[in-house]
Amino acid sequence: MRKLFIKTYGCQMNVYDSGRMADLLAPLGYGMVASPEDADMVILNTCHIREKAAEKVYSELGRLRALKDAKAAAGGKMLIAVAGCVAQAEGAQIVARQPAVDMVVGPQSYHRLPEMIARVTRGSEAVLETEFPVEEKFDLLPEENISRGASAFLTVQEGCDKFCTFCVVPYTRGAEFSRPPEDIEKEARRLVQSGVREVTLLGQNVNAYRADGRDGKVWGLAQLIRRLAEIRGLDRLRYTTSHPRDMDDELIAVHGEIEKLMPYLHLPVQSGSDRVLAAMNRQHSREDYFQLVERIRATRKDIALSSDFIVGFPGETDKDFEDTMDLVRRVVFAGAYSFKYSPRPGTPASTERQLPEDIKNERLQALQAILFEQQSAFNKSCEGKAFSILFEKPGRKEAQAVGRSPYLQPVHVDGALPLIGKLREVRIAAALPNSLKGVLVEAEPRVRAEELAR
Ligand code: 5AD
Ligand code: SF4
Repeated sequence: MRKLFIKTYGCQMNVYDSGRMADLLAPLGYGMVASPEDADMVILNTCHIREKAAEKVYSELGRLRALKDAKAAAGGKMLIAVAGCVAQAEGAQIVARQPAVDMVVGPQSYHRLPEMIARVTRGSEAVLETEFPVEEKFDLLPEENISRGASAFLTVQEGCDKFCTFCVVPYTRGAEFSRPPEDIEKEARRLVQSGVREVTLLGQNVNAYRADGRDGKVWGLAQLIRRLAEIRGLDRLRYTTSHPRDMDDELIAVHGEIEKLMPYLHLPVQSGSDRVLAAMNRQHSREDYFQLVERIRATRKDIALSSDFIVGFPGETDKDFEDTMDLVRRVVFAGAYSFKYSPRPGTPASTERQLPEDIKNERLQALQAILFEQQSAFNKSCEGKAFSILFEKPGRKEAQAVGRSPYLQPVHVDGALPLIGKLREVRIAAALPNSLKGVLVEAEPRVRAEELAR
């Protein structure tokens, strides 16, 4: 067996892509290992969304170079590939900056990896592939998506046509493309057969999903979810990431109809200021967002929301930032990611005058404090409630397992180790800021009914 090590940075789509690269290389005799030491092939599946993410790749490459040299000194060979969005954005510059790199492969070209490996092994030059044949990619990937647990990602849509002025995605992942519904259903069925209970549908703009079905109809995300919900053994569905503009009535309605669709929605707003939203080219106002949230909550009472925020966007004033804080106070989120604006080469906002770093830091701290408070309060509100938990992996303590609640909170349950891969009712006993502790309802003492009867 040849040893393959893949390190994944960034979003869930990269996690999915890394899995598919492993599927693709398995027939060539590559098996996954847990560390890069002594690996025959190392793939860094990279993220270009913020500067920090991209810089991490180069420091990792420096460390890999030493491992590669050590392996060569011992008479072996290590191939290094850079995949993902840094590969797409920087291409040949990567090899110029780190000559130990053998292959650079963009997110839409990794189905060509076997051929690239053959070319690199024959010649001495680095091999680059950064074209955009998305359709080809999905057609040429192997059918089996080897499942690695109870919960799996499934890419249904790639690329983005929105062009928010801060974002590299339209450049690194290209134009919107949606996979045919029949292919998605097949992949979902195969995942379920291999033990998957929960599928998260992925897309950079997942709710813009639109594809022609073989039935002659145009399928949106709502139709796709309804169809997938019919698959027996598939107990939970999620989708991410959505754009507020593409949350149409039908998709909202599906949240009220489909039990299997989890009541947790990631709906990035980025800012609460109309001025900043316009400068970001978000194509919605704060009022639009408020109304959208109201409609979603009216459809599914127990739904919780998460979001993404950017602070320190060029031109953001104290008042603009206060509008963001106000939006957070009014909407109330169960979780959120927040970032300092990071200028990305080639995007419109990167050439605007930048705000000083200390203002960005200050605003990020203030925002994160309130988001953390809201998340802790949400977790606290779960105490005493019973949820169905999907157990995914062993916990730190003996016989313990960790699962996910409908709201994606990690839940630690003692004695649940044999339940990995299964769903069980769990009562939440205690809330920590980032996780929950629970007890299996089936193991609860049955005194309660008697107590009540007394
Ligand atoms: N700077 C900071 N944050 C960014 N994001 C995207 N581009 C940038 C950038 N240039 C954030 C957005 C997006 C999330 C995935 O990353 O909030 O929703
Ligand atoms: Fe980037 Fe905006 Fe597209 Fe999201 S919607 S991927 S933030 S351009």
